[in-house]
Amino acid sequence: MVGKPKVVLGVSGGIAAYKACELLRRLTESGHEVRVVPTAASLNFVGEATWAALSGNPAGTEVWESVHEVPHVRIGQGADLVVVAPATADLLAKAAHGLADDLLTNTLLTARCPVVFAPAMHTEMWEHPATQENVATLRRRGAVVIEPAVGRLTGKDTGKGRLPDPEEIFEVCRHVLGRRGPASGAAGPDLAGRHVVISAGGTREPLDPVRFLGNRSSGKQGYALARTAVARGARVTLVAANTALADPAGADVVRVGTALQLREAVLKAAADADAVVMAAAVADFRPAEYAGGKIKKKDGEDPAPVALVRNPDVLAEISAERAREGQVVVGFAAETDDVLANGRAKLLRKGCDLLVVNEVGVAKTFGSEENEAVILASDGTEIPVPYGPKEALADVLWDRIAPRLAPRRA
Ligand SMILES: Cc1cc2nc3c(=O)[nH]c(=O)nc-3n(C[C@H](O)[C@H](O)[C@H](O)COP(=O)(O)O)c2cc1C
Repeated sequence: MVGKPKVVLGVSGGIAAYKACELLRRLTESGHEVRVVPTAASLNFVGEATWAALSGNPAGTEVWESVHEVPHVRIGQGADLVVVAPATADLLAKAAHGLADDLLTNTLLTARCPVVFAPAMHTEMWEHPATQENVATLRRRGAVVIEPAVGRLTGKDTGKGRLPDPEEIFEVCRHVLGRRGPASGAAGPDLAGRHVVISAGGTREPLDPVRFLGNRSSGKQGYALARTAVARGARVTLVAANTALADPAGADVVRVGTALQLREAVLKAAADADAVVMAAAVADFRPAEYAGGKIKKKDGEDPAPVALVRNPDVLAEISAERAREGQVVVGFAAETDDVLANGRAKLLRKGCDLLVVNEVGVAKTFGSEENEAVILASDGTEIPVPYGPKEALADVLWDRIAPRLAPRRA
C-alpha cells in the first residue's frame, strides 16, 4: 500500500446515516483517505455538503458527475477497503444481485479489495428471508457482513437491526485493512461461515446481596478475540461475565454473572459452534451458602468462616463432550508461578485442543491492553506470542484455530 490507505465509505438511506459521520471522522483521523459515496436516498438524512466537507473529497451519488474521471470504475478499483454503513435492505439486495444503478453499486462491482457491510434496519426487514438470503450471498462471496446490534430502532421500536456503535465498526475496518496481504490484496475472511463462542471477563460468586467473590479479569482479551473473529467473518457469541466494555460490533453478547450462569450460556451457544474459546476467568469455588440479607458484623464475635463448594469445570466439560464433531476447544490459563509447567498439566487435565498460558499479577495482564503468552497445543507444539496488543494475540490464536476446524457443513 503506497500512501494513506484508501477507504470508500458507502452510506445508504437508513435513519442511522448520521452515525457514519463519526465513522468517517475516526477513519480520517487515523490516517485514511476517505471517499464517501452516499446513495441518493441517504441524502434525505445527511446532505452531500457534510460528506464533502468532512472527507475533503467530492461526495456525489451518480455516475454522471465528473465523467471524464470515470468514477464509476476508478473509485472501486483504487480502494483498499469499502465499508457500507449503514447498509439498507435495498442496498444489500442490489449488491447481492449485482445491480449498478448509482455510484455506490458501481463501486461495489469494481472493488477488488475487502468489503464490509454494516446493515441497519427494522427487525422485520432484517429477518425477512429475502434479506437473509442476500446477506448469505454476500458472505459467501467473501464480504464481511456485520450482524446488527439489538436495541432502539426508528420510532419506539426495539429489536435486532440497530447499527453498531461507529467506533466498533471502525475497529472491524481497522482489522480487515490490517489483514490485507502486502501484494495479493485481501487475505479473505477465513472464519466465514463459522460460529465461534467466546467467554470473557470474570465471574462473581455472591456471598450476600452486596458482596461477592470475584477476580481481576477485565474481559479485554475475550473482547479482542470477539472483534478479530467478526473481522475474519465469523458469527460470534460472546458470553461476557461482569465486563464494562463496549459491545464489539457484530457479536451476539450474552451477559452473565456467576460461573453457573456462564456454564449454562456457554453450553447453550456451543451446541452448534465450530470453536469455543474460554477466555473468561471462571471461579473454581463459590460460597456454599448465600445469605439472603447483608451479613452483619456482631460486637465481640469473630466472623464466621466462609465455606466454599466447587463450581463445575466448564472447560473440562465442553472438552470432554464436544457438542459437535470436530469442535475446537481452547482454554486460557492464568498462572502466577511455574507458568509453563502448570499450563502443560492443565492442558492434559482439561483435554482441550489449545491452551493459552500467561503469567498474571496485579500489574500484569489483568486490565492491561497488552499480553504475552505461550499457546500450548495438544500435539505438543508450543507457540510463544511476544508481548504486544491483546488483538495481536487474538489473531495468532485464530491463525492456530482456523486450520483445526472441521470442514464446513454444506
Ligand atoms: C425515515 C426513514 C427511515 C428509514 N430507515 C431505514 C433503515 O434504517 N434501513 C433500511 O433498510 N431502510 C430504511 N428506510 C427505507 C429506505 O430509505 C428505502 O428502502 C430506500 O429506497 C433505500 O435506498 P438506498 O438503499 O438506495 O439508500 C427508511 C426510510 C425512511 C423514510
